[in-house]
Amino acid sequence: MEVFKTIKSLQQSLSDNGQNSTLGLVPTMGALHEGHLSIVRRAKEENNQVIVSIFVNPTQFDKKEDLVNYPNTLEADLEALESIGCDYVFTPSIEEVYQGDTKSESFDFEGLDKVMEGQFRTGHFDGVATIVKKLFLITKPDKAYFGEKDYQQLLIIKKMVGLESIPIEIVAVGIYREHDGLAMSSRNTRLSQAQRLAAPEIYQTLLKSKKLFENGDLTKVKSFVKNEFIQNKELDLEYFEVAEIESLKSANEFTPNTKYRAFIAVFADKVRLIDNIALN
Ligand code: PAJ
Repeated sequence: MEVFKTIKSLQQSLSDNGQNSTLGLVPTMGALHEGHLSIVRRAKEENNQVIVSIFVNPTQFDKKEDLVNYPNTLEADLEALESIGCDYVFTPSIEEVYQGDTKSESFDFEGLDKVMEGQFRTGHFDGVATIVKKLFLITKPDKAYFGEKDYQQLLIIKKMVGLESIPIEIVAVGIYREHDGLAMSSRNTRLSQAQRLAAPEIYQTLLKSKKLFENGDLTKVKSFVKNEFIQNKELDLEYFEVAEIESLKSANEFTPNTKYRAFIAVFADKVRLIDNIALN
């Protein structure tokens, strides 16, 4: 496994590869867990070579404290990536990527960025799309892999490659969970024991809302979820939404032949956790 900090050294090494070789990119911000590694394994299965980027992107953080406190476990990350056969790692500095201009580009995501995560995290998706576009142009992969854990992000990236006509296939990878159903996240380690014990309720509630949804009564589903969290001492609901899977248009009633997903964001004190599930 080769580790690169500069664009030049990375590109020199990548261009040495044969024409018939396919490259898969997995963008990350490090602090890798099994969820990330499941994506790298999938990329490995589908490509001759895999590159993982580890870069904590300043332009996607709306709160400075989150950026400053973002966990750095680079040594362990590199060990884990090496052990599963990752070929390249790109860990650039902010200067290397942004060249002194640490700003987001503005994109027109046609409303995809206005709901849910976008509504609660101003400028977040412009920052995400800006860095992912840069990583795409630097590494020029055939395919790039994103987790459904951040489903809205995945749609934003698909939209961005369309807007920019970037010829990269975007591959969605399912959510990797702990044994008790909690979606894996680097934030889970920040939960207290009591919060960690309460956290599986998030996925349990999504599963129950999926069952309720089978009756097609969205008002009931929404009030059920609200109630579940009113009763939970450790977790505060920020939002629960049912939305169409491609437009993310919020659904207030059930339309036949339309596919929906449920989305949730919950606070355990200061730790914000998100999850989502396909409803039909
Ligand atoms: P990060 O939070 O490090 O996540 C990197 C990738 O791992 C994302 O595609 C995310 O959806 C995926 N992922 C995280 N937890 C997962 C889980 N439990 N199951 C499946 N996939 C999971 O998302 C980002 O970084 C950044 O916004 C980035 C795209 C790298 C741009 O800076």
